[in-house]
Amino acid sequence: MSIHLPQQSPSATTRVQPDRKVALPRDRPRRLRRTAALRALVRETRIDPAMLVAPLFVRSGRGLREPIAAMPGVDRLSPDEAALEVEALAGLGVGAVLLFGLPADKDLDGSGAWEADGVVQQALVRIRDLDVPIVLAADTCLCAYTSHGHCGPLLQDGTVDNDAALERLATTAVSQARAGADIVAPSAMMDGQVAAIRGALDEAGHTGTAIMAYAAKAASAFYGPFREAADSSPVFGDRRGYQMDPANGREALREMELDVAEGADILLVKPGLPSLDLVAAAKERFDLPIAVYQVSGEFAMIRAAADRGWIDGRRAMTEAVTSMVRAGAGIVVTYAAAELARWIAEERTGGTR
Ligand code: PBG
Repeated sequence: MSIHLPQQSPSATTRVQPDRKVALPRDRPRRLRRTAALRALVRETRIDPAMLVAPLFVRSGRGLREPIAAMPGVDRLSPDEAALEVEALAGLGVGAVLLFGLPADKDLDGSGAWEADGVVQQALVRIRDLDVPIVLAADTCLCAYTSHGHCGPLLQDGTVDNDAALERLATTAVSQARAGADIVAPSAMMDGQVAAIRGALDEAGHTGTAIMAYAAKAASAFYGPFREAADSSPVFGDRRGYQMDPANGREALREMELDVAEGADILLVKPGLPSLDLVAAAKERFDLPIAVYQVSGEFAMIRAAADRGWIDGRRAMTEAVTSMVRAGAGIVVTYAAAELARWIAEERTGGTR
């Protein structure tokens, strides 16, 4: 490799040399950064494909792959295509998929979420049949299924009816478990949703179905592309009456505490990079697996800048996800799961470390 050093300016030769009588450092952290091999030896954090979760958007139909403009490389898939995608992800060693549904019809209640032949249920049944070694998780929420786009049925005043939402979320979780979900992931931010779901699952005999609780989920501007993908923007108002104020860290820990007490098996923090302090605090405080969600806007920002040539997309994506793991996450939900798994495999065989 030839290295081009910048030319010395002519005046440099006449410049006074610096005084060289400085004390030599005793500690030289640079010693361990000299070569790629040394850097690999001392690397503290590695991403393993088995810790990654790939979100998938499932729509109705057959043989359909519909691109999502704000999320290049992510498609809406019909259940048969979703099954093919899951097979490919399992082949890459990706740990889990997280299914989101786009129903053909929406209503005030969001009934498409718990129908036995709903899109997510159909996909789960198909994927189950493949018998591939990958964990199946289903997002348990109503916003993509309600005509108004909120995460539960509405009261007269237009706010979400918390306790009516609980029954519907519990019914949805049971229906997802019956269709084959290993994990249900309640993301509606309704008070008491984890307890309601745990109770309903147990009563229906699904004692082995785990709950990954979106324990601390902020009302984040970074969900923008997802709402296009899932067609789940609220028709009026916003989600600040149930999702958390991103300004509140102590309240986030209280939300996690409650979900632990209600029976959560995994605690999830969301969005990712904006919440690294919460990930670190959660790791310290709770002995459950901690998951983090690198959300649609975080993914889209990196992709958009990379597509313009402003940043190196591969390195930026790897750095962002590595930082989440360094902060304490043992599980990362990311739209880049397949890409990351491919890059990791390449590094292992090709030595581009
Ligand atoms: C459903 C849900 C949302 C996301 C995950 N589950 C949307 C929202 O709360 O508006 C966002 C995920 C992403 O942006 O990637 N409530």
